[in-house]
Amino acid sequence: MSMLNLSKEEFKNKFKNGKITVAVYGQGKMGLPLANVFAEAGVNVIGVDICEEVVENLNKGINHITEEPFLSELVAKNVKNGTYCATTDGKLAAEKADIMIILVPTLTDEKGNIKLGPVYNVAEIISSGLKEGNIVITEATMPPSTTESLITIFEKSGLKLSNGDFGLAHAPERTMTGTALRDIKGQYPKIIGANDSKTLEILSGMYETINNAGIVPISGIKGAEAVKVFEGVYRDVNIGLANELALWCEEHNVDALEVFESANTQPYCHIHTPGAGVGGHCIPVYPWFVINSSEKLNPRITKTARELNDYMAHHMVELTIKGLNSFEKSLKNAKILVLGLTFRGGVKEFMKSAAIPIISELNGWDADVYAFDPLCDETDANRYGAKWAEMESYKWDAVIITSDHVEFKNMDLDKLMKNVNIPLIVDGRNTIDPVIAREKGFKYLSVGNFKL
Ligand SMILES: NC(=O)c1ccc[n+]([C@@H]2O[C@H](COP(=O)([O-])OP(=O)(O)OC[C@H]3O[C@@H](n4cnc5c(N)ncnc54)[C@H](O)[C@@H]3O)[C@@H](O)[C@H]2O)c1
Repeated sequence: MSMLNLSKEEFKNKFKNGKITVAVYGQGKMGLPLANVFAEAGVNVIGVDICEEVVENLNKGINHITEEPFLSELVAKNVKNGTYCATTDGKLAAEKADIMIILVPTLTDEKGNIKLGPVYNVAEIISSGLKEGNIVITEATMPPSTTESLITIFEKSGLKLSNGDFGLAHAPERTMTGTALRDIKGQYPKIIGANDSKTLEILSGMYETINNAGIVPISGIKGAEAVKVFEGVYRDVNIGLANELALWCEEHNVDALEVFESANTQPYCHIHTPGAGVGGHCIPVYPWFVINSSEKLNPRITKTARELNDYMAHHMVELTIKGLNSFEKSLKNAKILVLGLTFRGGVKEFMKSAAIPIISELNGWDADVYAFDPLCDETDANRYGAKWAEMESYKWDAVIITSDHVEFKNMDLDKLMKNVNIPLIVDGRNTIDPVIAREKGFKYLSVGNFKL
């Protein structure tokens, strides 16, 4: 059935009544929740993945993205109802589907050099089953222009985009691991940009049906790709600004968080939270998509914020050295416990985690470095250059907090006090209340709160 001959209302009716088939390529942290939200809405969904074990389990109703709340129940329900199934046969899925969505990994190094192999691979497979009237949507995050670079691959099918034989669009995944179902169903509106107005109309019908927050149409594919990238750049630059102002506060003996909170009562002021650095696959990476693709512009602000945010790990070590020196102790041979290996609380991901450069620099000063993280084990700690320890393992000379795990927020400070040689906490995530920590006798230092 051609999607491009339907009106929006006709499409919506067929979509809700199980007359449309959607193939979602990539059944990972983002693709599996999306596929199952579609299936719940009544569509026939084929989840495509290269991992045979994942596919085999999904067809038994077994979810492998266990950190996503409510996903296990949803997958089991959809498999039972027959609205969702999985396959490794991407060509067959393309032959059966009306709409194909690409949501495979787009891995990058920390300078935004991207590996688009999986995207190109899926585009080739889709091309082998592409039919007239189909729509292909990229949802994976990619540098602007990437979706249009796939046109020549899709046209190997013999169909021509400029003749309106098929539709092409980008609809960025604006979700986060751990809240994907909530986000997809309406935490934010869905951004959609398409090659032509007919494709855009069908996409509005589709995403309006599953997303209560509605849609934001953008006049073109490249613009839609830029939206997601700019969201990341905005966060990185603003965190950079918060870090800069926090460093000023340290120099002037002013409590940054108190100042920021007060300033933010003015509706035009949104100073972010300072900290040990910016981690993850998104925020510290997307600025490079802008920097690396600018021929005429020199994106100074974007570059400087990136540089400053990367510097914060070094500043955490500086704070530790200053804290130890105030106890007449040097960093050399000091027993340091780094709390947190992951880049943020509750999620086991290490990309650009602040702990990694901090551990490396501490080792460079010949400190005796240990790490603990409730989501990790000894292998993870050793991989990043630290020994594994729990709070009670030794008497610590300093405790450095690098991830905002709930376990650290709720840490028993009285118990910690019994396990320290020097009562020094350097908090890179504002996890602990400075007033309470100081009342209990700790020297508490954080980015923007420096009292020796
Ligand atoms: N994880 C996040 O918080 C998040 C948030 C927003 C956007 N994104 C973007 O979403 C996209 C997907 O990320 P993710 O976190 O779901 O990745 P993921 O690593 O969790 O899952 C990717 C899945 O794709 C499968 N896969 C790999 N190559 C394939 C191929 N050629 N054909 C079919 N399946 C293939 C893998 O086996 C895996 O199951 C990326 O572009 C990412 O940047 C991720």
